[in-house]
Amino acid sequence: MSRFPYDAVVFDLDGTLCEAETGIVSSVKVAMEQLGCEIPAWVDLKLVVGPPLRDTFHTMLGVPENRVEEAMDFYRVDFNNRGRFLYSVYPKIRTLLRMLREGGVHTAVATSKPLKLATDILDWFGLTPLFDVVMGEVEGPQKLGKPELIRRALPERYHHAVMVGDRMFDVEGARGAGIPCIGVAYGCGSVEELREAGAAEIAETTEELQKLLCPGAEAPRGFFLTVEGPDGSGKTTQVDRLEKNLRKFGFTVRRTREPGGCAISEAIRGIILDTKNMEMCDTCEALLYAAARAQHVHQVIRPAVANGELVLCDRFVDSSVAYQGGGRELGVATIQQINAPAVDGMLPDATLYLAIDHREALSRRLAASTPDRLELQAVSFHGRVQAAYEQLISEDEERFLVVNAAQDRDSVEKDALKAVIDRISAYEQR
Ligand code: TYD
Repeated sequence: MSRFPYDAVVFDLDGTLCEAETGIVSSVKVAMEQLGCEIPAWVDLKLVVGPPLRDTFHTMLGVPENRVEEAMDFYRVDFNNRGRFLYSVYPKIRTLLRMLREGGVHTAVATSKPLKLATDILDWFGLTPLFDVVMGEVEGPQKLGKPELIRRALPERYHHAVMVGDRMFDVEGARGAGIPCIGVAYGCGSVEELREAGAAEIAETTEELQKLLCPGAEAPRGFFLTVEGPDGSGKTTQVDRLEKNLRKFGFTVRRTREPGGCAISEAIRGIILDTKNMEMCDTCEALLYAAARAQHVHQVIRPAVANGELVLCDRFVDSSVAYQGGGRELGVATIQQINAPAVDGMLPDATLYLAIDHREALSRRLAASTPDRLELQAVSFHGRVQAAYEQLISEDEERFLVVNAAQDRDSVEKDALKAVIDRISAYEQR
């Protein structure tokens, strides 16, 4: 028995779990253009999301019946190559799914999309492991229809099941399958549409949905992800892109950096990186990094992770080990000792390492901007930094996600995202 009101929840995909409108509408437009057909001016394109597209092309968009298959082909090609990558997971959906699973609830998807496509989308977002069943339409003209898809998504036995969807088709489908439906008004259907169709309840936001499905549940622990790499590895660009991507994947991202991340630690950062402070001794530098870290962990990182957020931190204690331990030759053990009370057990769940030879990294960096105090170090310094990083990685291969940063930016972005999503999605299904 689940402690929540429903022990089986079946979700619609488009407009319920994922923002799909942008991707679908854009591919519908491409298909209509390639067909040489105009989109009728009175059509609200938002409403193409939900019902089977074949019908939509004909009844809503006025494509002659004998050209519907052609329209579908154009649509499919564009959607597979481009449109589906415009999807995003609604905020808080991942948390909701984790809460349901932790509460022992059967979770499923029932969508009118072809099963293969639905699975591809869920796999891309690393969401598949959060569902017991994914039901999608069969290929070919003979369709299962929403009620049958919902029936097949339900477990053999349940006490109280519910469908969650954003369109009247979901409400009607649920009725056909003999279960109630919670309508979500943040998708493509309106409150009126959902009420009229007979939705048992309406959730205007994903937070409201969470309250209906998991009342009283605490946020599951978030994730602590750090990014490391030598100066000039393209870290800032990649952290920017990763942040954007992770938000699209539905994570509540808390982006932060070291040294810095909160007022006290940012002030310390100013002292450390100031080119006027050339007389700073190595031990002072190492202690300042640790001091900044202590406040950052206390004030930002620990509370955010406890609150279910994904902390994306640009550099962390590995930087101290590599730069002060290796680069400054203060020794790895000393740096780990200094940092133990600062980190206070808050080690990263995963660390993305942007691997690039320090000489190549530095020449890139010097070409791009004026170097700060640390970047002005000799090549031998950066060689020791790299060696220390490599030592850390070899000792903790589990935690490090090593990506080749010598590639072009887009390839680094793609590899980094894949590595991170694989890791987080393995963590989420624990
Ligand atoms: P950062 O702002 O990340 O620089 P970049 O984006 O150019 O890589 O980091 C500033 C410098 O601080 C960088 O040279 C690495 C150094 N650093 C340490 O030496 N020890 C540390 O503990 C941290 C966090 C950074």
